[in-house]
Amino acid sequence: MKWKIPLFDLDYNQREITAVSRVLRKRWLTMGEKVEELEQKMSKFAKAKYAVALSSGTAALHLALRALNLKPGEEVLVPSLTFVASTNAVLYCGAKPVFVDSTSLNDFNISVDDLERKISSKTRGIIVVHYAGFLADIDKLKKLARKFGLFIIEDSAHAIGTKYRMKIAGTFGDVGCFSFFSNKNLATGEGGMAVTNNEKLARRIRLLRSHGMTSPTWERFKAVSFGYDVVELGYNYRMTEVSAVLGLEQLKKLIPNNRKRKRLYQVYVQNLKKVEGLFIPFLDYPRDSSYHLFPVILNDKISRKAFMQKLKEKKIQTSIHYLPVHQLSYYRKNYPRKSGSLPVSEEIGKREVTLPLHTRMSEKDVLYVCEQVKNTLKFCRK
Ligand SMILES: Cc1ncc(COP(=O)(O)O)c(C=O)c1O
Repeated sequence: MKWKIPLFDLDYNQREITAVSRVLRKRWLTMGEKVEELEQKMSKFAKAKYAVALSSGTAALHLALRALNLKPGEEVLVPSLTFVASTNAVLYCGAKPVFVDSTSLNDFNISVDDLERKISSKTRGIIVVHYAGFLADIDKLKKLARKFGLFIIEDSAHAIGTKYRMKIAGTFGDVGCFSFFSNKNLATGEGGMAVTNNEKLARRIRLLRSHGMTSPTWERFKAVSFGYDVVELGYNYRMTEVSAVLGLEQLKKLIPNNRKRKRLYQVYVQNLKKVEGLFIPFLDYPRDSSYHLFPVILNDKISRKAFMQKLKEKKIQTSIHYLPVHQLSYYRKNYPRKSGSLPVSEEIGKREVTLPLHTRMSEKDVLYVCEQVKNTLKFCRK
C-alpha cells in the first residue's frame, strides 16, 4: 500500500546521508566518539548533567529502573494508556506494574487522583508518560513523590523538546527516557537516551548498558585501558555510531521541526474543532507539547473501524494510541483484572484515532486530511 499521507515520515535529507557515509568511511561502528558527542549535545539540549545513549527507549526505561534498584515484588505506578514498553520494563525487573487511569477524555495523561489512591506500602515509584508530547501534571506528581518517597521516571518517548518553566520534559523526575524510534520527533531508526542530574544513576546506567563491564571496547581501542572486569549483570544496550550521527543531524532540526508540528496541529484544530462526530482532546491544555501525535476521539455513534477503513481507501494512514496495556492479551492472561476498572483509559482505547502528523506534511496536506475526515464521518454511523 502506497499511502498518500502516511501517519509519520522521516525528515531525512542529504545531511543524514553524508553523516552516515562519513561514519562508514571511518570504519568504527559501535559506540564511540559520535555516541559521546550525541550524549554531550543531548545533555546540553535537555539541560541535564548526564545523558547516556542506549539502543532504544525501552532499554532506557529498563536501565533507569535497574539503576534505581527496583526489586521483585515492588510496585510501580504506570498509566495503562501507553506503549507496552513502559510497563514491560517494570516486568523485566520482576516488579509489578500497577495500572493508573487517564485523567479524562480531554486529558489522556495519568490521573493524579487515581494514582494517589493506588499508592501502597510496596510502591517504589511512578513512570509518567507525557502522552503525544503533552506534559503531564508534573507539579502534582512531584509533590506526591516527595510525600511518599517515590522515584519518578519520565517516559518522554513522545515529548522530546516539550518545555515547562524553562525546563525540558525528561528533567523533572529522577531519570528521563527518550526514544529515537523511526516515528519519533527525533528518529534514528532504533535508539534511545536516558538523562539525569544524578551522577550515581548515570554511572550505573552506563555500566549496565555494556554488560556491567568496567571499560568499553572504545576505551580499549583508544588504549585508555587494556583489560576489563565485569562487576554487575548488565546487557548489550549500546548505541551504534550510525545511529549517533543520525541523532546529531536530527537534533539540529528538532526545534524548528517541533515548531512546524505545532503549526500543522493548529491547522487541524481550526478545521476539525467544530466538526460533528468527533472532538479534539488537549484543547486549551495548560502545559506545553512537542506535538508528536494528533489524536481525536470519535463520537460513540461512529464506527472506528469503518472510519479508519474509509480513510485507508483515500490512502490516509491512521492508527490507535493506545489499546490500554491492561487489555492486551499477555497482560489479560497474566495480570487479569475486571473490565471497567480503568474506565477512562478503556473509553479512550475504544474511541481514539490518530491522524497523520509529521514534518513532511504541508498545511495543504492537513487540509486534505480534514476534508476527507469530514466526508468520511457522514458514512460511518453505527
Ligand atoms: C510511550 C513510549 N514509551 C516507550 C517507547 C519505547 O521506545 P523504543 O521503541 O525506542 O524502545 C515508545 C516507543 O515506541 C513509546 O511510544
